[in-house]
Amino acid sequence: MTKTPPPIDRAGLIETRRDIHQHPELGFEETRTAGLIAERLRGLKYQVTPGVGKTGVVAVKKKDGRCVLIRADMDALPVEEANAVPYRSRVPGKMHACGHDGHVAIGLEVARRLAPLELDGSVKFAFQPAEEASNGAQAMISDGVLDSPRVDAAFGIHLWNDLPVGTVGIMAGPVMASVDQFEIQILGRGGHAAAPHQTIDPVLVAAHVVTALQSLVSRRRDPLSEAVVSVTEMHAGRAFNVIPDRADLRGTVRTFGGSFFEDAPRLVEETAQGIAVAFGAHANVQYHRLSAPLINNEELSALMRDVAAKVLGAGSVRQGVRTMGGEDMAYFLERVPGCFAFVGSAPGSSRASPHHSPTFDIDEESLVIGAELLTATAITYLNA
Ligand code: NI
Repeated sequence: MTKTPPPIDRAGLIETRRDIHQHPELGFEETRTAGLIAERLRGLKYQVTPGVGKTGVVAVKKKDGRCVLIRADMDALPVEEANAVPYRSRVPGKMHACGHDGHVAIGLEVARRLAPLELDGSVKFAFQPAEEASNGAQAMISDGVLDSPRVDAAFGIHLWNDLPVGTVGIMAGPVMASVDQFEIQILGRGGHAAAPHQTIDPVLVAAHVVTALQSLVSRRRDPLSEAVVSVTEMHAGRAFNVIPDRADLRGTVRTFGGSFFEDAPRLVEETAQGIAVAFGAHANVQYHRLSAPLINNEELSALMRDVAAKVLGAGSVRQGVRTMGGEDMAYFLERVPGCFAFVGSAPGSSRASPHHSPTFDIDEESLVIGAELLTATAITYLNA
């Protein structure tokens, strides 16, 4: 038993990431990925439980003391890969276009390096399904991933193409947004396009609702708190000369919490219904909370930032890296304190493709950095 982890296996990390990249699986379908993970972790003598949150895998190395959780998501996206690389996706219409293939490889490398160590506490790994659909974390939590041993702190990373490789973004407080989804049905009365006075035109009402929803951000929100309202779908009508009887809208609200987060469901409903009534129409509003804002704990963010400064040099640790994108690691961090860091993965010279795009790819040096960061964070936390 030793206190120093074995050297990082750069070639192994890249090989694992490329293997998973070639075999992408969508949320709750990650059976091959989960099988590979479970087999590796059993080989490392972890106590492995598959099927946690449907396709999730949990691995534990138990010891008296505190318990630290390392979380890695493992799902791909319904995107057709456009990269001509040797490790291109072999599955038509599916691709690791967000870097979760790298998260799995990093998680396994951290597990390999922590396995032989004598630590002052337990290490638990959560390989999580279905992050993109925002319900994998909840599935694992309801299956008890945070219990026995009870998790005291949770850490995770996201490879991040908005940051150059060699840098990381770590800060306390909210760093990823709440994700809400709304659906609005506007019910009018259809008729002839040439006789609008005999109808209640839901298309016109929908147009006013879309415009008014934008005023929520400009006029109903404290300008010092961040928020986005986007209407992203609009469906109505089937003919140029017929006023339809119904129009459907869908969209999303993003916040970092606070009063606008609390008020948004009511504001969206009141706005849509008020406008519809003013036009003689009726609006039905469904509002769903998909994920909470992701909030990093002050103390543990400082711990991870110190670790990152040791691994990369203080100049490479960026403050202020946040996004209005969502991340269901938020559900873990709602229950236990922890920190979620952004690990720069944009190739040095060229402009990086954005996440979720068919040309997304990472600079694989980021795998080494992510693995070093999480390994050292887990050791530092447990031995503190
Ligand atoms: Ni992602």
